[in-house]
Amino acid sequence: MPDYILAPSILSADFARLGDEVRDVIASGADWIHFDVMDNHYVPNLTIGPLVCSAIRPHTQATIDVHLMVKPVDRIVPDFAKAGANLISFHPEASDHVDRTLSLIHDHGCQAGLVLNPASSIHHLDHVLDKLDLVLLMSVNPGFGGQSFIPSTLAKLHAVRAMLDEYKARSGRTIRLQVDGGIKVDNIADVARAGADTFVAGSAVFGARQPGDPHHYDSVIQALREQLSGVYPVGLH
Ligand code: DX5
Ligand code: ZN
Repeated sequence: MPDYILAPSILSADFARLGDEVRDVIASGADWIHFDVMDNHYVPNLTIGPLVCSAIRPHTQATIDVHLMVKPVDRIVPDFAKAGANLISFHPEASDHVDRTLSLIHDHGCQAGLVLNPASSIHHLDHVLDKLDLVLLMSVNPGFGGQSFIPSTLAKLHAVRAMLDEYKARSGRTIRLQVDGGIKVDNIADVARAGADTFVAGSAVFGARQPGDPHHYDSVIQALREQLSGVYPVGLH
């Protein structure tokens, strides 16, 4: 079975208690912290930056998975590396020189990911696979938590899964395939079957918040994992 990764998005966490939220969700069995950065320019919302990344870094040893929805990209990359990010992803439309930005992220000691919006072509991946650690397919238009999963993402996942499997057979390198937007207990198995191995979930996880109960996220994390147990991507057996 693929090693599935659950990455709760702190976009839906209680920002006034972010350290506790990060600790609680990891203690409940989540793998990564997904950190959504929005600039009110590339996307119509404004969220958190490197200062907040530095503030949560001491609260967990888990991977901090920074999803940049900002334009331009390059100026802010070193700041996030310094703030303790482990993985930095960005949208190709937000960088004038995608290959250069991928090198910049690696030069600063982080893993690198490329993010494709629902309408963005998978051909953005064609010439940069050697520099990718992760591909993120957006299953909503970026900017807000709590939107509905766009069903055409499933066909796109199949196509990228095939591309990444072929690349692995040729190069020996594994590139993770992440999906972000509208992931819930009732659709995560279908999304895994289509080929995703890394799942962002914001409102589905943090919507279970019960202040005062340090185990409030146990049951939702467990429910997501149960859906994944025994699920193989179609075509991989
Ligand atoms: C959307 C963000 C997502 C968001 C997902 O632009 O990139 O990470 O937090 O939220 P849900 O899981 O609620 O759709
Ligand atoms: Zn995100």
